[in-house]
This record gives sequence, structure tokens and C-alpha cells, in this order.
Amino acid sequence: MLQNINTLCVHGAKDKNNTTGAITIPVYQSATFSHPCVGQSTGYDYSRLQNPTREALENAVAVLESGYDAMAFSSGMAAMTILCELFNPNDHIIASQDLYGGSVRLLDNVVKKNGVLVDYLNTGDIDAVKEKIRSETKFIFVETPTNPMMQITDIAKISAVCKEKNILLIVDNTFLTPVYQKPIELGADIVLHSGTKYLGGHNDTLAGFLVTANEELSEKLRYLYKTIGACLAPWDSFLILRGIKTLAIRMERITENAKKIADWLGEQSAVKTVLYSGQSGMISFKTYDADTAKKILEKVKVIQYAESLGGVESLITYPVLQTHADVPLEKRLALGIDETLLRLSVGIEHVDDLIADLEKSVADADS
Ligand SMILES: Cc1ncc(COP(=O)(O)O)c(C=O)c1O
Repeated sequence: MLQNINTLCVHGAKDKNNTTGAITIPVYQSATFSHPCVGQSTGYDYSRLQNPTREALENAVAVLESGYDAMAFSSGMAAMTILCELFNPNDHIIASQDLYGGSVRLLDNVVKKNGVLVDYLNTGDIDAVKEKIRSETKFIFVETPTNPMMQITDIAKISAVCKEKNILLIVDNTFLTPVYQKPIELGADIVLHSGTKYLGGHNDTLAGFLVTANEELSEKLRYLYKTIGACLAPWDSFLILRGIKTLAIRMERITENAKKIADWLGEQSAVKTVLYSGQSGMISFKTYDADTAKKILEKVKVIQYAESLGGVESLITYPVLQTHADVPLEKRLALGIDETLLRLSVGIEHVDDLIADLEKSVADADS
């Protein structure tokens, strides 16, 4: 049995149809599959339901996350949308207060109108979570660390509360990936990923995942999956599979770089605060004024000013105008997401080049 995450990343995907000895999983670019005879199936009927390339990817992600099953979607938001189909009118949901802005937009502007009630709070504060729980509370949705303020929730602790109260725990594991955090092993019921980020790792493919801890949840979500049809295409499945092969080694290098950059940022007079969880490549930092923040965005050259995260290329984002633009101003400011906040996704370039790029942009911003 393969145990080490490095080995699982390389060898976790299995092609159960392999008769050729091919080392990589082929792209089964087929929408439909013929039947051997009436009432029989090869196991594949129609690619919205199952496709061999996507199936290999789903198995690989299920193994990495220690899940029962994994479903691959056309984006992280497609995965989140199907997940929200589990919610019923009058269900009460507790969510981390500082979720990815797209998740907030979906919950507030799409899901709430179906009669679902959502309360946002710091899910790291277990007492505050316990206080909010009522008989209608059916789900707790956690992002840890949060995006972009890096608030941490102890998954094992919150899962113990959920189990006691019969609440399902959902964890968005996009930021830490199974290399650093396996929510199902800590008691979560469902894990969500934007596969566009670290799993894919090359800023070339959109993807999303839902990983379930048990058969019952898998059956419910598989039914929604085949009915709604937001599935990942075969070629995109191949690209994410290829990305996953280097996930563990990328995360090692990214974390090594990010630690050095977080330390360096902490020593700069133009930088007021640095938020870094100590793992993975996501660093948020604040300058003293909006002007400096904007100039840094425009001056960086190796690091690119672009939305998204988790790829081999370092990117810098302006949450107020990008990821969190749709979060209401009052809420955004209460969380500290203001015009001085920048979010860096550290890549695998040489750290000296990244620091030199930041150093020059900070110096230029000052002049
Ligand atoms: C933490 C997190 N979850 C979910 C998503 C949504 O994923 P996607 O952009 O693949 O739809 C994002 C996107 O940035 C994210 O950062």
C-alpha cells in the first residue's frame, strides 16, 4: 500500500482499463460509450455520468484526501453550487466569516433566496460557534486558513461539536491541500477544492472537487452530479492529473519560498502587517496606505498582478477589486479587507528573484 503523499501524488491515479502498459492515463475524449449487448454496460455509458480519464482523477483525489469518493467539476464554484443543493429551505448554515468572495456571493445572492439562513462568524472561535448552533443548523462550512485573512479553524475541534449536534462539516481545503491538511481524517464530512489552484498547479485549467467521507453522502452528491452536469471534461481531467503528480514537491518548494518571503516582508518599513499560516504559499500583507499597495501591484515584474493562486507562477492580487469585490463594503472593512491589503500566491521561482522583485517594487512605490 502506498502511504507517503509524494508517492501517492505520482502513483495514486490508476487506469483500470490499461491493456497497453501506458504510464500515463489516456484522454478518453468520448461523450458516449457503446453497449456490449442490451441491458449491459462497460461501466461507462455517457461522460456526464462517468468517463475513464475523469474517474482516474477522481480516484486519485479521493485517495489523497482519505475520502470515500471524489467528484470532479468544471470549476470550484461548480462544486460549491452542487454542494449547496444539499441545503433545504429553513436550514441554518454557519460559515467562516472570511470565505472566498465567490462563495459568499453564491451563499448570499443565490442560495439564501431558497430560504436558507447563513450566519458568518470566526469558526476558529469554538465557543462562538456553539452559541450560534440551533436546531435548524444543518451544516458548518469552514475555510481554513481563510481567504485572504488567514484565520485558522481547528478542524478536529469543530468536527467534535458537529458530531455531537448531528451537523455536517464541510471544509474548503484549497489553500493547504492534502499535503498539509486532510480534513476527513480530522472528522470532516465533505471536502471542497478549487482544483484550479494547487491541485492543477499551472494556472492553465479550471476544476473543482467534492470529496465525501461516506457512501450516503456520495450517493446524494452523485445523483446531483449526473443531473446537473457541471462535470470536468476529459482533457481538463488529464491536465489536473498531470498537475497532481508534482503537487507534493511543488508544495515543498512553495512553502520554503513563502516562509522566506513572509520573514522578509515582516522586516520592511513599508509593510504594516504580514499574515501567513506557515504552510503553503498564501501570504496577505498590508501597506500603510492604498497608494503604496497599488504601486506595488503595478511595479512587480516577475510576480504577476492577476487573480487566482496556487500555480507555479507567483501572482499578486488586490482582494478589494478582485476576489472580494462583491463582499459588501461594511463586511469587508470589518474583516480588514481594505485598500492597503495585498495577497501574494508564492510560486516555485527562485526565492531570491521573488524577493528582488518585491524589493524593487516596494522601493519604486516609495519614490
Ligand atoms: C478558497 C477557494 N475556494 C473556492 C474557489 C472557487 O474556485 P474556482 O475559481 O475554481 O471556481 C476559490 C477561487 O479562488 C478559492 O480561492
